[in-house]
Amino acid sequence: MSGINYSEKIPNNVNLVSDRTLQRALEHWQPKFIDWWRGMGPTDFQGADVYLRTAVSVDADGWAQYGAVKMPDYRWGIFLADPVAERKIGFGVAMGQPAWQSVPGEYRSTLRRLIVTQGDTEPASVEQQRLLGHSCPSLYDLRNLFQINVEEGRHLWAMVYLLHAHFGRDGREEAEELLARHSGDADKPRILTTFNEPIGDWLSLYCFTYFTDRDGKYQLKSLAESGFDPLSRTCRFMLTEEAHHMFVGETGIGRVVKRTLEVMKELKTDDPAKIRAHGAVDLPLLQKYLNFWCSSSLDLFGSEISSNSAANFANGLKGRPDETTYDDHVLREKTFDLRTPKGSESVPMLNALNEVMRESYLKDCEIGLKRWNRTIERAGFPGLALKLPSSRFRRSIGAWAGQPVDPQGNLNSKEDYSRELNNWIPSEQDRAFVQSLMQRVVEPGKIAGWVAPPDRGINNLPVEYEYVKLH
Ligand SMILES: [Fe+2]
Ligand SMILES: [Fe+2]
Repeated sequence: MSGINYSEKIPNNVNLVSDRTLQRALEHWQPKFIDWWRGMGPTDFQGADVYLRTAVSVDADGWAQYGAVKMPDYRWGIFLADPVAERKIGFGVAMGQPAWQSVPGEYRSTLRRLIVTQGDTEPASVEQQRLLGHSCPSLYDLRNLFQINVEEGRHLWAMVYLLHAHFGRDGREEAEELLARHSGDADKPRILTTFNEPIGDWLSLYCFTYFTDRDGKYQLKSLAESGFDPLSRTCRFMLTEEAHHMFVGETGIGRVVKRTLEVMKELKTDDPAKIRAHGAVDLPLLQKYLNFWCSSSLDLFGSEISSNSAANFANGLKGRPDETTYDDHVLREKTFDLRTPKGSESVPMLNALNEVMRESYLKDCEIGLKRWNRTIERAGFPGLALKLPSSRFRRSIGAWAGQPVDPQGNLNSKEDYSRELNNWIPSEQDRAFVQSLMQRVVEPGKIAGWVAPPDRGINNLPVEYEYVKLH
Protein backbone atom coordinates (compact mmCIF):
# COMPACT_ATOMS: atom_id res chain seq x y z
CA MET A 1 0.00 0.00 0.00
CA SER A 2 1.09 3.63 -0.44
CA GLY A 3 0.78 5.86 2.58
CA ILE A 4 0.27 9.54 1.93
CA ASN A 5 2.96 11.97 3.01
CA TYR A 6 1.35 14.68 5.12
CA SER A 7 4.57 16.29 6.24
CA GLU A 8 4.71 18.37 3.09
CA LYS A 9 2.64 21.34 2.03
CA ILE A 10 0.81 19.20 -0.51
CA PRO A 11 -0.14 15.73 0.75
CA ASN A 12 0.85 13.17 -1.87
CA ASN A 13 1.94 9.65 -2.56
CA VAL A 14 3.87 10.56 -5.72
CA ASN A 15 7.11 11.51 -3.96
CA LEU A 16 6.67 15.16 -4.80
CA VAL A 17 9.70 16.09 -2.69
CA SER A 18 12.03 14.65 -5.31
CA ASP A 19 10.52 16.66 -8.19
CA ARG A 20 11.25 20.31 -7.50
CA THR A 21 9.84 21.65 -10.79
CA LEU A 22 6.50 19.98 -10.26
CA GLN A 23 6.44 20.97 -6.62
CA ARG A 24 7.00 24.61 -7.56
CA ALA A 25 4.23 24.54 -10.15
CA LEU A 26 1.75 23.03 -7.69
CA GLU A 27 2.77 25.34 -4.86
CA HIS A 28 2.19 28.26 -7.21
CA TRP A 29 -1.29 26.97 -8.10
CA GLN A 30 -2.33 26.07 -4.53
CA PRO A 31 -3.09 29.63 -3.25
CA LYS A 32 -5.18 30.25 -6.37
CA PHE A 33 -7.11 27.09 -5.64
CA ILE A 34 -7.74 28.24 -2.04
CA ASP A 35 -8.91 31.63 -3.34
CA TRP A 36 -11.24 29.85 -5.72
CA TRP A 37 -12.54 27.65 -2.90
CA ARG A 38 -13.21 30.66 -0.68
CA GLY A 39 -14.88 32.59 -3.50
CA MET A 40 -16.74 29.84 -5.35
CA GLY A 41 -17.00 26.98 -2.82
CA PRO A 42 -19.81 26.50 -0.26
CA THR A 43 -20.90 29.93 0.92
CA ASP A 44 -20.68 30.95 4.58
CA PHE A 45 -19.56 27.59 5.96
CA GLN A 46 -15.81 28.02 5.83
CA GLY A 47 -15.56 28.30 9.63
CA ALA A 48 -17.78 25.30 10.41
CA ASP A 49 -16.30 22.07 11.79
CA VAL A 50 -17.35 19.33 9.41
CA TYR A 51 -17.04 15.62 10.13
CA LEU A 52 -15.11 14.70 6.99
CA ARG A 53 -13.37 11.71 5.56
CA THR A 54 -9.78 12.26 4.45
CA ALA A 55 -7.57 9.83 2.56
CA VAL A 56 -4.50 8.64 4.48
CA SER A 57 -3.47 5.87 2.12
CA VAL A 58 -4.82 4.57 -1.15
CA ASP A 59 -5.43 0.91 -0.31
CA ALA A 60 -8.86 -0.55 0.36
CA ASP A 61 -9.10 0.12 4.08
CA GLY A 62 -6.67 2.97 4.64
CA TRP A 63 -8.17 5.69 2.56
CA ALA A 64 -10.77 6.96 4.95
CA GLN A 65 -9.91 8.77 8.15
CA TYR A 66 -12.74 10.65 9.84
CA GLY A 67 -12.62 13.76 11.95
CA ALA A 68 -13.82 17.35 12.32
CA VAL A 69 -12.15 19.66 9.79
CA LYS A 70 -12.76 23.22 8.64
CA MET A 71 -13.16 22.93 4.90
CA PRO A 72 -10.41 25.38 3.87
CA ASP A 73 -8.01 23.22 5.97
CA TYR A 74 -8.97 20.01 4.15
CA ARG A 75 -5.87 18.08 3.07
CA TRP A 76 -6.32 18.30 -0.67
CA GLY A 77 -3.52 16.53 -2.41
CA ILE A 78 -2.36 14.08 -5.00
CA PHE A 79 -3.16 10.43 -4.56
CA LEU A 80 -2.66 7.81 -7.25
CA ALA A 81 -3.77 4.20 -6.94
CA ASP A 82 -0.82 1.82 -6.59
CA PRO A 83 0.85 0.93 -9.88
CA VAL A 84 0.07 -2.41 -11.48
CA ALA A 85 3.41 -4.10 -12.13
CA GLU A 86 4.23 -4.32 -15.86
CA ARG A 87 0.82 -3.01 -16.83
CA LYS A 88 0.03 -3.42 -20.56
CA ILE A 89 -2.29 -1.43 -22.81
CA GLY A 90 -5.56 -3.37 -22.80
CA PHE A 91 -7.23 -2.36 -26.10
CA GLY A 92 -6.75 -0.73 -29.50
CA VAL A 93 -3.94 -1.10 -32.00
CA ALA A 94 -1.21 -0.88 -29.33
CA MET A 95 -2.82 -3.59 -27.22
CA GLY A 96 -0.27 -5.67 -25.32
CA GLN A 97 2.45 -3.02 -25.39
CA PRO A 98 3.67 -1.62 -22.06
CA ALA A 99 1.48 1.19 -20.71
CA TRP A 100 3.01 4.67 -21.23
CA GLN A 101 4.56 6.38 -18.23
CA SER A 102 4.88 9.66 -20.13
CA VAL A 103 2.67 11.24 -22.79
CA PRO A 104 3.33 9.99 -26.33
CA GLY A 105 3.98 13.09 -28.47
CA GLU A 106 1.37 12.23 -31.10
CA TYR A 107 -1.42 12.01 -28.48
CA ARG A 108 -0.40 15.00 -26.45
CA SER A 109 -3.19 17.40 -27.41
CA THR A 110 -5.90 14.70 -27.32
CA LEU A 111 -4.89 13.53 -23.86
CA ARG A 112 -4.71 17.10 -22.65
CA ARG A 113 -8.22 17.73 -23.91
CA LEU A 114 -9.56 14.57 -22.23
CA ILE A 115 -7.97 15.58 -18.92
CA VAL A 116 -9.16 19.19 -19.14
CA THR A 117 -12.72 18.13 -19.99
CA GLN A 118 -12.83 15.76 -17.02
CA GLY A 119 -11.08 18.29 -14.77
CA ASP A 120 -13.55 21.05 -15.67
CA THR A 121 -16.52 19.10 -14.29
CA GLU A 122 -15.00 18.82 -10.81
CA PRO A 123 -14.90 22.49 -9.72
CA ALA A 124 -18.04 23.09 -11.82
CA SER A 125 -20.13 20.87 -9.56
CA VAL A 126 -18.80 22.61 -6.43
CA GLU A 127 -19.91 25.91 -7.98
CA GLN A 128 -23.32 24.52 -8.91
CA GLN A 129 -23.90 23.39 -5.33
CA ARG A 130 -22.48 26.35 -3.46
CA LEU A 131 -25.75 27.76 -2.08
CA LEU A 132 -27.32 24.48 -1.01
CA GLY A 133 -25.92 24.59 2.53
CA HIS A 134 -28.44 27.29 3.38
CA SER A 135 -31.42 25.02 2.79
CA CYS A 136 -30.11 21.67 4.05
CA PRO A 137 -32.72 19.19 5.30
CA SER A 138 -30.43 17.99 8.13
CA LEU A 139 -26.88 18.18 9.46
CA TYR A 140 -26.32 14.66 8.12
CA ASP A 141 -27.16 15.87 4.60
CA LEU A 142 -25.14 19.03 5.03
CA ARG A 143 -22.09 16.98 5.93
CA ASN A 144 -22.57 14.73 2.90
CA LEU A 145 -22.81 17.76 0.63
CA PHE A 146 -19.55 19.13 2.00
CA GLN A 147 -17.85 15.73 1.74
CA ILE A 148 -18.75 15.65 -1.94
CA ASN A 149 -17.59 19.25 -2.41
CA VAL A 150 -14.14 18.72 -0.88
CA GLU A 151 -13.68 15.52 -2.89
CA GLU A 152 -14.62 17.23 -6.13
CA GLY A 153 -12.02 19.80 -5.14
CA ARG A 154 -9.52 16.98 -4.78
CA HIS A 155 -10.52 15.57 -8.17
CA LEU A 156 -9.58 18.93 -9.60
CA TRP A 157 -6.20 18.55 -7.89
CA ALA A 158 -5.86 15.12 -9.46
CA MET A 159 -6.33 16.49 -12.97
CA VAL A 160 -4.13 19.53 -12.30
CA TYR A 161 -1.37 17.20 -11.13
CA LEU A 162 -1.50 15.40 -14.50
CA LEU A 163 -1.45 18.72 -16.38
CA HIS A 164 1.47 20.04 -14.35
CA ALA A 165 3.47 16.83 -14.34
CA HIS A 166 3.05 15.87 -18.00
CA PHE A 167 2.09 18.85 -20.15
CA GLY A 168 4.61 21.55 -19.32
CA ARG A 169 3.65 25.13 -19.97
CA ASP A 170 0.33 24.44 -21.74
CA GLY A 171 -0.58 22.19 -18.83
CA ARG A 172 0.05 25.01 -16.37
CA GLU A 173 -2.06 27.38 -18.46
CA GLU A 174 -4.92 24.88 -18.62
CA ALA A 175 -4.73 24.49 -14.85
CA GLU A 176 -5.28 28.24 -14.45
CA GLU A 177 -8.20 28.14 -16.86
CA LEU A 178 -9.85 25.44 -14.75
CA LEU A 179 -10.18 28.06 -12.02
CA ALA A 180 -11.16 30.87 -14.42
CA ARG A 181 -14.22 29.26 -16.04
CA HIS A 182 -17.31 29.22 -13.82
CA SER A 183 -20.55 27.28 -13.89
CA GLY A 184 -23.27 29.27 -15.64
CA ASP A 185 -20.97 32.22 -16.36
CA ALA A 186 -22.15 34.13 -19.43
CA ASP A 187 -18.63 34.83 -20.73
CA LYS A 188 -16.62 31.88 -19.43
CA PRO A 189 -18.94 28.97 -18.76
CA ARG A 190 -17.89 25.44 -17.91
CA ILE A 191 -17.24 23.19 -20.89
CA LEU A 192 -20.22 20.82 -20.65
CA THR A 193 -23.86 22.00 -20.56
CA THR A 194 -25.03 19.89 -17.61
CA PHE A 195 -22.37 21.54 -15.48
CA ASN A 196 -23.85 24.96 -16.18
CA GLU A 197 -27.33 23.97 -14.93
CA PRO A 198 -27.98 25.54 -11.53
CA ILE A 199 -28.62 23.15 -8.64
CA GLY A 200 -30.87 25.24 -6.45
CA ASP A 201 -32.64 22.60 -4.38
CA TRP A 202 -31.85 19.31 -2.69
CA LEU A 203 -34.11 17.22 -4.89
CA SER A 204 -31.94 18.38 -7.80
CA LEU A 205 -28.82 17.59 -5.78
CA TYR A 206 -29.98 14.01 -5.16
CA CYS A 207 -30.77 13.63 -8.88
CA PHE A 208 -27.48 15.22 -9.90
CA THR A 209 -25.47 12.92 -7.65
CA TYR A 210 -27.48 9.93 -8.86
CA PHE A 211 -27.27 10.66 -12.59
CA THR A 212 -24.45 13.11 -13.21
CA ASP A 213 -21.93 11.74 -10.72
CA ARG A 214 -22.69 8.35 -12.26
CA ASP A 215 -21.71 9.75 -15.65
CA GLY A 216 -18.52 10.75 -13.82
CA LYS A 217 -18.11 7.16 -12.72
CA TYR A 218 -18.38 5.93 -16.31
CA GLN A 219 -15.98 8.57 -17.64
CA LEU A 220 -13.49 7.71 -14.89
CA LYS A 221 -13.87 3.99 -15.56
CA SER A 222 -13.09 4.47 -19.23
CA LEU A 223 -10.11 6.73 -18.43
CA ALA A 224 -8.92 4.19 -15.83
CA GLU A 225 -8.42 1.85 -18.82
CA SER A 226 -6.15 4.36 -20.55
CA GLY A 227 -2.77 3.33 -21.87
CA PHE A 228 -1.42 6.51 -20.27
CA ASP A 229 -0.68 4.98 -16.89
CA PRO A 230 -0.63 8.10 -14.65
CA LEU A 231 -4.14 8.93 -15.90
CA SER A 232 -5.28 5.38 -15.24
CA ARG A 233 -3.91 5.36 -11.69
CA THR A 234 -5.36 8.79 -10.90
CA CYS A 235 -8.82 7.81 -12.11
CA ARG A 236 -8.76 4.50 -10.27
CA PHE A 237 -8.31 6.31 -7.00
CA MET A 238 -10.96 8.93 -7.85
CA LEU A 239 -13.48 6.13 -8.37
CA THR A 240 -13.26 5.10 -4.71
CA GLU A 241 -14.39 8.61 -3.75
CA GLU A 242 -17.05 8.82 -6.47
CA ALA A 243 -18.95 5.87 -4.95
CA HIS A 244 -20.00 8.02 -1.98
CA HIS A 245 -21.42 10.70 -4.27
CA MET A 246 -23.73 8.21 -5.93
CA PHE A 247 -24.64 6.80 -2.52
CA VAL A 248 -25.88 10.27 -1.56
CA GLY A 249 -28.02 10.33 -4.70
CA GLU A 250 -29.45 6.86 -4.42
CA THR A 251 -30.24 7.02 -0.70
CA GLY A 252 -31.43 10.62 -1.04
CA ILE A 253 -34.03 9.77 -3.68
CA GLY A 254 -34.89 6.61 -1.71
CA ARG A 255 -35.55 8.73 1.39
CA VAL A 256 -37.79 11.10 -0.60
CA VAL A 257 -39.78 8.11 -1.88
CA LYS A 258 -40.05 6.71 1.64
CA ARG A 259 -41.33 9.98 3.09
CA THR A 260 -43.85 10.46 0.26
CA LEU A 261 -45.23 6.97 0.80
CA GLU A 262 -45.64 7.67 4.53
CA VAL A 263 -47.63 10.79 3.69
CA MET A 264 -49.73 8.94 1.12
CA LYS A 265 -50.58 6.25 3.67
CA GLU A 266 -51.33 8.78 6.36
CA LEU A 267 -53.62 10.81 4.09
CA LYS A 268 -54.93 7.70 2.32
CA THR A 269 -54.50 9.36 -1.06
CA ASP A 270 -52.21 9.57 -4.05
CA ASP A 271 -53.58 12.98 -5.05
CA PRO A 272 -50.51 15.14 -5.85
CA ALA A 273 -52.23 18.33 -4.65
CA LYS A 274 -52.95 16.84 -1.22
CA ILE A 275 -49.44 15.39 -0.92
CA ARG A 276 -47.94 18.76 -1.80
CA ALA A 277 -50.23 20.54 0.64
CA HIS A 278 -48.79 18.21 3.29
CA GLY A 279 -45.26 19.31 2.39
CA ALA A 280 -44.07 16.22 0.52
CA VAL A 281 -42.93 15.50 -3.03
CA ASP A 282 -45.56 13.59 -5.02
CA LEU A 283 -44.13 10.77 -7.11
CA PRO A 284 -45.09 12.30 -10.51
CA LEU A 285 -43.08 15.36 -9.50
CA LEU A 286 -40.11 13.20 -8.58
CA GLN A 287 -40.50 11.50 -11.97
CA LYS A 288 -40.14 14.88 -13.68
CA TYR A 289 -36.91 15.54 -11.83
CA LEU A 290 -35.61 12.11 -12.85
CA ASN A 291 -36.56 12.85 -16.48
CA PHE A 292 -34.75 16.17 -16.40
CA TRP A 293 -31.47 15.04 -14.86
CA CYS A 294 -31.28 11.70 -16.63
CA SER A 295 -31.77 13.24 -20.07
CA SER A 296 -29.35 16.05 -19.32
CA SER A 297 -26.71 13.56 -18.16
CA LEU A 298 -27.17 11.32 -21.21
CA ASP A 299 -25.86 14.09 -23.45
CA LEU A 300 -22.55 13.94 -21.57
CA PHE A 301 -21.69 10.73 -23.40
CA GLY A 302 -21.66 12.55 -26.72
CA SER A 303 -22.98 11.62 -30.17
CA GLU A 304 -23.97 8.06 -30.96
CA ILE A 305 -21.52 8.14 -33.84
CA SER A 306 -18.19 9.61 -33.00
CA SER A 307 -14.92 9.46 -34.87
CA ASN A 308 -13.19 11.05 -31.86
CA SER A 309 -14.12 8.26 -29.52
CA ALA A 310 -13.22 5.72 -32.25
CA ALA A 311 -9.76 7.26 -32.49
CA ASN A 312 -9.39 7.50 -28.72
CA PHE A 313 -10.15 3.81 -28.45
CA ALA A 314 -8.02 2.68 -31.39
CA ASN A 315 -5.10 4.71 -30.03
CA GLY A 316 -5.40 3.29 -26.52
CA LEU A 317 -6.29 6.60 -24.85
CA LYS A 318 -9.80 5.90 -23.56
CA GLY A 319 -11.33 2.42 -23.26
CA ARG A 320 -14.77 1.14 -22.46
CA PRO A 321 -15.76 0.99 -18.79
CA ASP A 322 -14.78 -2.51 -17.57
CA GLU A 323 -12.83 -3.18 -20.77
CA THR A 324 -11.67 -6.62 -19.54
CA THR A 325 -15.26 -7.90 -19.48
CA TYR A 326 -15.49 -7.65 -23.30
CA ASP A 327 -13.91 -10.31 -25.51
CA ASP A 328 -12.88 -8.17 -28.50
CA HIS A 329 -10.53 -5.32 -27.58
CA VAL A 330 -9.64 -4.16 -31.07
CA LEU A 331 -13.07 -3.93 -32.74
CA ARG A 332 -11.90 -4.12 -36.32
CA GLU A 333 -14.85 -6.23 -37.53
CA LYS A 334 -17.70 -5.68 -35.07
CA THR A 335 -20.77 -3.67 -35.96
CA PHE A 336 -23.49 -2.04 -33.88
CA ASP A 337 -27.20 -1.70 -34.63
CA LEU A 338 -28.05 1.93 -34.22
CA ARG A 339 -31.57 3.33 -34.13
CA THR A 340 -31.97 6.84 -35.44
CA PRO A 341 -35.08 8.86 -36.37
CA LYS A 342 -34.57 7.56 -39.93
CA GLY A 343 -34.63 3.91 -38.86
CA SER A 344 -32.07 1.23 -38.03
CA GLU A 345 -28.57 1.25 -39.41
CA SER A 346 -25.53 -0.90 -38.92
CA VAL A 347 -22.40 1.08 -38.04
CA PRO A 348 -18.84 0.06 -37.14
CA MET A 349 -18.73 -0.69 -33.41
CA LEU A 350 -15.62 1.44 -33.10
CA ASN A 351 -17.67 4.50 -34.08
CA ALA A 352 -20.53 3.68 -31.71
CA LEU A 353 -18.57 3.50 -28.46
CA ASN A 354 -20.32 6.51 -26.93
CA GLU A 355 -23.59 4.65 -27.38
CA VAL A 356 -22.10 1.45 -25.92
CA MET A 357 -21.04 3.43 -22.89
CA ARG A 358 -24.43 5.17 -22.62
CA GLU A 359 -26.18 1.79 -22.66
CA SER A 360 -24.07 0.37 -19.84
CA TYR A 361 -24.59 3.60 -17.90
CA LEU A 362 -28.36 3.26 -18.26
CA LYS A 363 -28.21 -0.31 -16.95
CA ASP A 364 -26.38 0.99 -13.91
CA CYS A 365 -29.04 3.70 -13.49
CA GLU A 366 -31.77 1.02 -13.41
CA ILE A 367 -30.45 -0.45 -10.16
CA GLY A 368 -31.73 2.38 -7.97
CA LEU A 369 -35.04 2.51 -9.82
CA LYS A 370 -35.64 -1.17 -9.01
CA ARG A 371 -34.95 -0.53 -5.34
CA TRP A 372 -37.25 2.51 -5.12
CA ASN A 373 -39.98 0.72 -7.05
CA ARG A 374 -39.89 -2.21 -4.63
CA THR A 375 -40.74 0.22 -1.81
CA ILE A 376 -43.50 1.79 -3.88
CA GLU A 377 -44.94 -1.59 -4.70
CA ARG A 378 -44.74 -2.81 -1.09
CA ALA A 379 -46.61 0.31 -0.01
CA GLY A 380 -49.42 -0.71 -2.36
CA PHE A 381 -48.94 1.72 -5.24
CA PRO A 382 -47.49 -0.41 -8.10
CA GLY A 383 -49.10 1.93 -10.65
CA LEU A 384 -46.85 4.77 -9.49
CA ALA A 385 -43.57 3.01 -10.31
CA LEU A 386 -40.75 5.35 -11.40
CA LYS A 387 -39.09 4.93 -14.80
CA LEU A 388 -36.03 6.11 -16.62
CA PRO A 389 -36.91 8.28 -19.62
CA SER A 390 -36.05 6.95 -23.05
CA SER A 391 -32.50 7.76 -24.10
CA ARG A 392 -34.02 9.66 -27.07
CA PHE A 393 -35.95 12.07 -24.84
CA ARG A 394 -34.82 15.73 -24.73
CA ARG A 395 -31.46 15.11 -26.28
CA SER A 396 -29.33 18.03 -27.44
CA ILE A 397 -26.54 15.97 -28.95
CA GLY A 398 -26.50 13.20 -31.54
CA ALA A 399 -29.05 11.55 -33.80
CA TRP A 400 -32.02 12.42 -31.57
CA ALA A 401 -31.01 16.02 -30.92
CA GLY A 402 -34.00 18.38 -31.03
CA GLN A 403 -36.44 15.57 -31.92
CA PRO A 404 -39.90 15.88 -30.33
CA VAL A 405 -39.70 12.56 -28.49
CA ASP A 406 -41.70 11.82 -25.33
CA PRO A 407 -40.18 10.11 -22.25
CA GLN A 408 -41.43 6.75 -23.59
CA GLY A 409 -39.34 7.27 -26.73
CA ASN A 410 -42.15 7.95 -29.21
CA LEU A 411 -41.96 10.70 -31.79
CA ASN A 412 -44.62 13.37 -31.26
CA SER A 413 -45.62 16.34 -33.35
CA LYS A 414 -43.68 19.49 -32.46
CA GLU A 415 -46.90 21.09 -31.12
CA ASP A 416 -47.75 18.16 -28.85
CA TYR A 417 -44.20 18.07 -27.63
CA SER A 418 -44.05 21.72 -26.63
CA ARG A 419 -47.48 21.52 -25.02
CA GLU A 420 -46.62 18.41 -22.99
CA LEU A 421 -43.05 19.23 -22.02
CA ASN A 422 -44.16 20.80 -18.73
CA ASN A 423 -45.78 17.48 -17.83
CA TRP A 424 -42.51 15.66 -18.40
CA ILE A 425 -39.91 17.90 -16.80
CA PRO A 426 -40.35 20.30 -13.85
CA SER A 427 -42.41 23.38 -14.71
CA GLU A 428 -41.84 26.78 -13.13
CA GLN A 429 -44.58 26.01 -10.57
CA ASP A 430 -43.04 22.63 -9.78
CA ARG A 431 -39.67 24.22 -9.15
CA ALA A 432 -41.24 26.95 -7.03
CA PHE A 433 -43.04 24.31 -4.97
CA VAL A 434 -39.84 22.32 -4.42
CA GLN A 435 -38.09 25.54 -3.50
CA SER A 436 -40.79 26.23 -0.90
CA LEU A 437 -39.91 22.93 0.81
CA MET A 438 -36.26 23.88 1.13
CA GLN A 439 -36.30 25.11 4.71
CA ARG A 440 -33.03 24.81 6.55
CA VAL A 441 -32.95 22.26 9.38
CA VAL A 442 -29.77 22.26 11.47
CA GLU A 443 -30.76 20.90 14.88
CA PRO A 444 -28.91 17.64 15.47
CA GLY A 445 -31.21 14.67 14.81
CA LYS A 446 -33.95 16.80 13.20
CA ILE A 447 -34.99 16.39 9.57
CA ALA A 448 -37.08 18.34 7.06
CA GLY A 449 -40.61 17.11 6.43
CA TRP A 450 -40.16 16.19 2.75
CA VAL A 451 -37.49 13.54 3.24
CA ALA A 452 -37.16 10.53 5.57
CA PRO A 453 -34.17 10.29 7.91
CA PRO A 454 -31.31 8.06 6.76
CA ASP A 455 -31.21 4.44 7.96
CA ARG A 456 -27.84 4.97 9.60
CA GLY A 457 -25.30 7.68 10.31
CA ILE A 458 -21.78 8.18 9.01
CA ASN A 459 -18.97 5.84 10.09
CA ASN A 460 -21.14 4.05 12.70
CA LEU A 461 -22.12 7.28 14.42
CA PRO A 462 -25.80 7.82 15.25
CA VAL A 463 -28.01 9.73 12.82
CA GLU A 464 -28.46 12.48 15.41
CA TYR A 465 -24.72 13.14 15.72
CA GLU A 466 -23.77 16.79 15.19
CA TYR A 467 -22.01 16.22 11.84
CA VAL A 468 -21.49 19.91 11.24
CA LYS A 469 -20.74 22.29 14.09
CA LEU A 470 -21.86 25.66 12.81
CA HIS A 471 -20.73 27.81 15.79
FE1 LIG B 1 -15.45 14.02 -9.22
FE1 LIG C 1 -18.52 13.15 -7.90
